[in-house]
Amino acid sequence: MFKEDQVLSYSFRSFISLLEDKGDLIRVKREVDLNYDLASILWNFEKEGKAVLFENVKEKSFSAVGGLFQNLSRIHLGLNIPGKFNPEKISDKIGLALKNPIPYLTVESSPAKEVIEKGEDVNLNDLPIPIFFEEDAGPYITAGVCIVKHLDTVILNMGIYRIQVLDKNSIVIYGNPLSDIRKIYSMAEAKSYTNIEIAVAIGVDPAVLFAAILKPRTNLSELEIAGSLKGEPIKVVKCETVDLMVPCDAEIVLEGKVHVKKKVPEGPFSEIGGYYGKSLSPITEITALYHRKDSIFHAIMPGPSTEHFTLINIINFGMKKAIFRRLKAIFNDITNINVIWSPSTGTMMKLIISMSKTSEDAPKKILETAFNLKVGGTPISSFIKQVIIVDDDINIYEPVEVEWAINSRTPDESRILVLPNIRSWHLDCAVRSDGCSVRLGVDATKPLGKYERLKKVKIAENMSLGE
Ligand SMILES: Cc1cc2nc3c(=O)[nH]c(=O)nc-3n(C[C@H](O)[C@H](O)[C@H](O)COP(=O)(O)O)c2cc1C
Repeated sequence: MFKEDQVLSYSFRSFISLLEDKGDLIRVKREVDLNYDLASILWNFEKEGKAVLFENVKEKSFSAVGGLFQNLSRIHLGLNIPGKFNPEKISDKIGLALKNPIPYLTVESSPAKEVIEKGEDVNLNDLPIPIFFEEDAGPYITAGVCIVKHLDTVILNMGIYRIQVLDKNSIVIYGNPLSDIRKIYSMAEAKSYTNIEIAVAIGVDPAVLFAAILKPRTNLSELEIAGSLKGEPIKVVKCETVDLMVPCDAEIVLEGKVHVKKKVPEGPFSEIGGYYGKSLSPITEITALYHRKDSIFHAIMPGPSTEHFTLINIINFGMKKAIFRRLKAIFNDITNINVIWSPSTGTMMKLIISMSKTSEDAPKKILETAFNLKVGGTPISSFIKQVIIVDDDINIYEPVEVEWAINSRTPDESRILVLPNIRSWHLDCAVRSDGCSVRLGVDATKPLGKYERLKKVKIAENMSLGE
């Protein structure tokens, strides 16, 4: 039994035990097929908020686990944040971690090296790698934390990317146009490198997983941010066949060479927006595979699962703060903002702004300014489809309340802003041939003269049933 208040930080295994102790993890003992069966079970238990441990995977000797991070309260838990769940605390912890990196620590041995396969002995078919959605091209590793060196600085770059398994010793790792790994692939190609070295760790500490999703300053390694999230240095061990380091207590490690010029078709694969995506990406040849004797394979449910959205939203905590600061500096009436990227918003995000309105034309100006903002050089309109402005009696974390405001507080079309021809990012599948699509702004604030008529009903907050 884990005593939560005595734990400083979680490992992959102690986090699984914690979920089991809390009744949040189901053990499936029946034989499970990797072709769609495992994914279907994960998808269905996600609706009940349960992680799943598969003890008996058909024709494999490993067990597999999924659904560990289905909602923000699991991220709260994985970061070991004390007290009641509060998303602002996650934001604060990540903000602090990005400013206070802790260097990693090299150690000599690793439990992941109990069984080592190299060269011709490497066999990815030993691993329980699922096929998730119906038209996916094949088995995909979805919780592989990839480590490569930045070519100019040799700083270790860490990220999570979908990984298609082609055969017993080759994979394809997809880096999207915004990712550092894609830039590293391109830079290597431009410098006429034939390959770059890579390591993939599967089954890592929550802190390492979360840091892999973050985007720190380029002169920092995500491994150092992981240390800061964990509250102690991440222990790493030297790889066997490449000149890299991997977290020493990973469940499974792959090492290999990315042949940057040898691009092959990757996908189709179920993307976060709910559509299939494909790419031409460089092939990676696996030079070593090692694991514990009883390793647990980690699978993250891909496609439009709440787990996928929850994890990817880790990047958005920093962006939210930046958007709020920039808007607040111009419009002091703004009280808070929220960026929603969820199964209901799909390929694009939604920005909700709450304000205490003092002039009738302020919301329109805010809408126009918001669509023109850039964060880190990227126009936010490339990924934000809708901006909605509400009064500050609306809970911007409750989509139902925001919807209620749109439907109940907009008197006429002067409250709607339609922006055609906005350039979109890579996930927007609805774009026209010029790469652009439409944006929508809604001023759902109460008209100033209607404050009394549009007063929201209120319920007393303290309910007690007595003893
Ligand atoms: C489950 C999951 C799957 C992801 N898949 C991809 C992917 O296939 N390609 C990609 O570029 N980013 C993907 N991401 C986002 C990256 O992990 C994230 O943007 C990270 O910061 C990229 O690191 P980099 O910029 O250092 O390369 C995924 C994130 C999660 C949580």
